[in-house]
Amino acid sequence: MPQTVLVTGGAGFIGSHTCVELLKHGHEVIVVDNFSNSSPGAVEAVQKLAGRPLPLHEADLRDRAALDAIFAEHEIDAVIHFAAKKAVGESMKIPLEYFDTNIGGTIALLRAMNDHGVRRLVFSSSCSVYGETPKVPLNEDDPAAPTNPYARTKHICEQLLGDACARYPELSVIALRYFNPIGAHPSGEIGEDPNGVPNNVLPYMAQVAVGRLAELPVFGDDYPTPDGTGVRDYIHVVDVADGHRVALDHLDDERGLRVFNLGTGSGASVLELMAEFASAVGAPIPYRVEARRPGDVPALIADAGRVERAWGWRTTRDLAAMCADAWHFQRLHPTGYSASPTV
Ligand code: UD1
Repeated sequence: MPQTVLVTGGAGFIGSHTCVELLKHGHEVIVVDNFSNSSPGAVEAVQKLAGRPLPLHEADLRDRAALDAIFAEHEIDAVIHFAAKKAVGESMKIPLEYFDTNIGGTIALLRAMNDHGVRRLVFSSSCSVYGETPKVPLNEDDPAAPTNPYARTKHICEQLLGDACARYPELSVIALRYFNPIGAHPSGEIGEDPNGVPNNVLPYMAQVAVGRLAELPVFGDDYPTPDGTGVRDYIHVVDVADGHRVALDHLDDERGLRVFNLGTGSGASVLELMAEFASAVGAPIPYRVEARRPGDVPALIADAGRVERAWGWRTTRDLAAMCADAWHFQRLHPTGYSASPTV
């Protein structure tokens, strides 16, 4: 059944890819974004890819009047809530801004949904809620132990969503805990375009490959992993987007809060990822080994079983596709959306 979906943070990396999947599958999409870490160019590219326009509202979720106006203007069936700040290091420098934006934004959104009778929500959570844990792979029943303000905001949001569901039994909420989303749409039209120097490994590598940065710092080669570098469960952003589309179809399976990991179930080290990316680029990536980054853990890998058992859904794109697609976007948009032909 086609639905009308409000996507908060729809101009962001995962948000923009999700909009494309939803539009492709016949849903109507309304985007709200304050462009604090994204660009209107991403929404233009989404419209071009989908071949149809979508309503775009520039607003901050904490602006209740603006949010009310959006809910009053559209008949919304469900909300997918991405809009949030997401850099771990930054969250340690400005924790209050993280609490305000991520938790304040979610509360304002829930109140607006409540006031306008919208009962269905897919929430963007993170594997970072598991925190420092020696257990690999991680399943959804493993205890949460967030180690930084960003991760705490995601964990607190999950808890407040649980409390809201207990109070309002008509609510249906699915929280998706993503592992490490990378890659880009295979068209090369949309991808990851972080502001400033990238925090995350793949966009950093991609900017080294186009010559914007000199070399990749590899944070530690003395972890208890096969080659000593950190291991992560990288997942193609189009698989993450597809997971949201499928979650939408399962919102009515039951009421209350349900939590699912989104990962592939297998890990790659920084050096393995770099080798795969270098093969997509066709040239080696200059790098130097540095000290471990504070707060990093040796390995994070999803147990991807729950979502497969519940929905028969699993990821379909491998590390080679993630690297090839990320490189395709970066090559077409060496300086991101700002100077790209799509703007
Ligand atoms: C973090 C968050 C995760 C979030 C993701 C994307 C945690 C535990 N994880 O993941 O929730 O979804 O960001 O926002 O909070 N690395 C380098 N050089 C670099 C950058 C990273 O070697 O320049 C290494 C890291 O040490 C790590 C791996 O690459 O082993 C991945 O790092 P990164 O891409 O930053 O993601 P996470 O920290 O795993």
